[in-house]
Amino acid sequence: MTIKRILIYPEDCLKQVAKPVKIFDAELKALIQDMLDTMYDAPGVGLAAPQIGVSLRVAVTDVYWRSEEAGGQREHKVWINPEFLWKSENTEITEEGCLSLPDIYGDVERPNAVRLRWFDLEGKQYEEDFEGFQAVALQHEFDHLDGKVFIDYLSPLKRRMIIKRLKKKYLS
Ligand code: NI
Repeated sequence: MTIKRILIYPEDCLKQVAKPVKIFDAELKALIQDMLDTMYDAPGVGLAAPQIGVSLRVAVTDVYWRSEEAGGQREHKVWINPEFLWKSENTEITEEGCLSLPDIYGDVERPNAVRLRWFDLEGKQYEEDFEGFQAVALQHEFDHLDGKVFIDYLSPLKRRMIIKRLKKKYLS
């Protein structure tokens, strides 16, 4: 069990476009195990590799384990080289937060349905539609793979204030 340090925005790796996974090997499996350990420990519902300083297109999620209905039961998903094939015109506004921006929350408007293609640990390809909270959560996670975070959707003024606060509290 390895719990990694979660980077705080605006640390460098969080602002970089991550590279696609090309080799599906034991090293990748170990990275994903570290990501799961770190996500559950945090505790969070999603974590992207850049958040632990690894610039690869990998994310893990377990969007329901912290809900009342799940009662702590875990069911994680692994997303490698994810790619949206379609996003709906219909949107919804959700209050988002992020392990890399502790105690910061903001309303973000995103498409509320998506079609996704991704790979699993063995390199097998999948394609599936997602909607609602799951669709929103995936867009949040995969933004990390493009060096984006949810405060990029807020006003420049609000964004600047948040970055200043995070730098002062965590990175000075
Ligand atoms: Ni995040």
